[in-house]
Amino acid sequence: MKFWNKPKVKIESENLPRHIGIIMDGNGRWAKKRGLPRMAGHRYGAEALKKVALLCEEIGINTVTVYAFSTENWRRPKDEVDNLMLLLLEYLSRAQKELGDKNIILKAIGNLSPFSAEIKEKIAQTEAFTANNTGMTLNIALNYGARDEILHAIKSIVKSQVSADDIDEQTIERHLYTKDSPPLDLIIRPSGELRLSNFLLWQCAYSELWFSNVLWPDFDKKHLLGAIADFQSRNRRYGGV
Ligand code: FPP
Repeated sequence: MKFWNKPKVKIESENLPRHIGIIMDGNGRWAKKRGLPRMAGHRYGAEALKKVALLCEEIGINTVTVYAFSTENWRRPKDEVDNLMLLLLEYLSRAQKELGDKNIILKAIGNLSPFSAEIKEKIAQTEAFTANNTGMTLNIALNYGARDEILHAIKSIVKSQVSADDIDEQTIERHLYTKDSPPLDLIIRPSGELRLSNFLLWQCAYSELWFSNVLWPDFDKKHLLGAIADFQSRNRRYGGV
């Protein structure tokens, strides 16, 4: 049995969450507290994401899904949306180098159609670059909304002309963006908000939830290990006794 015991937190390698979802919240408040523009918060948030992804891979997590841009985030000021798109391009370019050679498989999930040709091309390139890796999968949710995902799944099931009696839960799961991912064991939401904000609503049916006041750019190894240790202390009954 291997223990990750720094700092003061012990986690067991036998009972790791296979799939962790992360709502990377609090970038704006982090920047505001320091008198910085909101984009500085997003930049530090991107750094936190890189570190957390590498750590999860090192620990042996199978899949991490991060909420990077929601279907509702288009409502933000144009300037912030434009800058987030530039940050995404930069992140993907760096990810090819910094995550690709760390054996991480990067995938984008969500409705990618509204993104620019440049972003779609960069996503395709980064996915192809990391496709032969064999380690952790990092799903980056972009223009993602759980209701939109479920709607997309329903439309695609209807188009497949399957008869209503043949539709079961597995049919729906096969049409979700996360069809290749293991069950979602744990959702982490920093920043003090206690809600799921349209993130993985089908997948979270039996997920354990972990909330903290830490703002995402400050989220580090001790928070991740704390969340995993907390997960390992939960008694998951799935409706049984
Ligand atoms: C929520 O914080 C965060 C976002 C809407 C964007 C998340 C993006 C990153 C972490 C940047 C890195 C990721 C990529 C792939 C570019 P908020 O702005 O709502 O914070 P607030 O609630 O404090 O205002």
